[in-house]
Amino acid sequence: MALSGKKTVYKSVLLSFVLVITVTVLQRGMTPNQFLQNQRKDLLSQEPVKAQKRDDVLSVANNFWKKDSEPVTKMAATTEKQVKSWDVTTNCTVNLNFSKDDWFKGLEPNFKQFLLYRHCRYFPMIINHPEKCSGNIHLLIVVKSIITQHDRREAIRKTWGQEKEVDGKKIRTLFLLGVASKEEERANYQKLLEYENHIYGDILQWDFLDSFFNLTLKEVNFLKWLNIYCDNVRFVFKGDDDVFVSPDNILDYLEDQKAGDLFTGDVLYKAKPIRKKENKYYIPTALYSKTHYPPYAGGGGFLMDSSLARKLYKVSENLELYPIDDVFLGMCLEILKVTPVAHAGFKTFGIVKNKNSKMNKEPCFFQNMLVVHKLLPPELLRMWDLVHSNLTCSRKLYIL
Ligand SMILES: *[C@@H]1O[C@H](CO)[C@@H](O)[C@H](O)[C@H]1NC(C)=O
Ligand SMILES: *[C@@H]1O[C@H](CO)[C@@H](O)[C@H](O)[C@H]1NC(C)=O
Ligand SMILES: *[C@@H]1O[C@H](CO)[C@@H](O)[C@H](O)[C@H]1NC(C)=O
Ligand SMILES: *[C@@H]1O[C@H](CO)[C@@H](O)[C@H](O)[C@H]1NC(C)=O
Repeated sequence: MALSGKKTVYKSVLLSFVLVITVTVLQRGMTPNQFLQNQRKDLLSQEPVKAQKRDDVLSVANNFWKKDSEPVTKMAATTEKQVKSWDVTTNCTVNLNFSKDDWFKGLEPNFKQFLLYRHCRYFPMIINHPEKCSGNIHLLIVVKSIITQHDRREAIRKTWGQEKEVDGKKIRTLFLLGVASKEEERANYQKLLEYENHIYGDILQWDFLDSFFNLTLKEVNFLKWLNIYCDNVRFVFKGDDDVFVSPDNILDYLEDQKAGDLFTGDVLYKAKPIRKKENKYYIPTALYSKTHYPPYAGGGGFLMDSSLARKLYKVSENLELYPIDDVFLGMCLEILKVTPVAHAGFKTFGIVKNKNSKMNKEPCFFQNMLVVHKLLPPELLRMWDLVHSNLTCSRKLYIL
């Protein structure tokens, strides 16, 4: 227990260390090995006791940087013989079929971009973990993240993303990523991500640009992945990397669920497509002309039965991609005639409208929730500690 705690701290120290190295290396134009060698000398002369330990880590780091040419996927792929595997080699080329149409010409650039590549659905994997779902897994937690948000992943690993076993029920965690959408970020961050994956082994990465409109790609590629590799997963929690989650409350909630089409979250039943151009969720009528969306659960965090996830994968294949990922899943649910169930413990659209309200910082409130948006790493770590301390709450909220 204490040992694994130490290990985690150790890992995060190491990761920050690598970040510093890389930045320095980039600035000084050294190779990482040169830098590490210098650093090692410094450490040895300054701190003879600790240096022994750090030296081990440095040699791990050295080996990692040496393996430059080896693709990361190889490591995982060779650990187990796999009957089914990710066999996507799609070559995504632009579709100019409607580029001369007037309705298309009038669209905003991001919608144009979306439509030109809408037909490209599955992408090759850059980092895969076929072994992740081996054995019986009760709850698979998957978190949408982007390459630059390393601090959020780190905070999640220390809090609600901890892999553990509760009464024999295994919880496993994975982060879902595409490639950096900015050219300058791609080169610098990719190597760091691979190193992060080398340490934690919890990254799935696909070869598509990580943009807002490509979140639906993350959805469908994950569903396909789950369908290939995860026969023995019981439930899936999928969410954002800036939320507070209580896995204990989720497990309690799942305790009472019968096998079936469970799909639970912060559900909107009659949402209207947003027609104001300034809004992040704006949708032109050319893309969606109906007045209402089907019921859907906010993508900040929702729970589903894995058998339903498999059905969603099948129907999603016959549906054109829609730029808003949670609405897209709502469309798939509609085809399956499954109505998502609203649960008051999911607060993914905010707790109360007033951002300054005390409710947003009240640990007694968080203690009874399954998911709350929106907490950045320092707030998440603080709230996690508070909720797991000996809280004295004046009155118990019965949500579950
Ligand atoms: C993808 O398509 C482009 C253009 O058609 C071609 O040049 C390239 O070689 C293809 N790549 C693969 C891996 O098939
Ligand atoms: C573009 O149009 C052609 C001819 O109608 C069709 O065969 C092709 O599938 C279309 N491309 C896409 C990506 O839909
Ligand atoms: C989604 O990713 C693909 C593949 O990287 C890219 O071609 C496309 O432009 C992206 N779409 C958007 C809307 O960013
Ligand atoms: C919380 O309370 C229990 C029992 O009252 C006690 O054993 C435990 O040490 C306390 N934990 C903390 C962190 O104060």
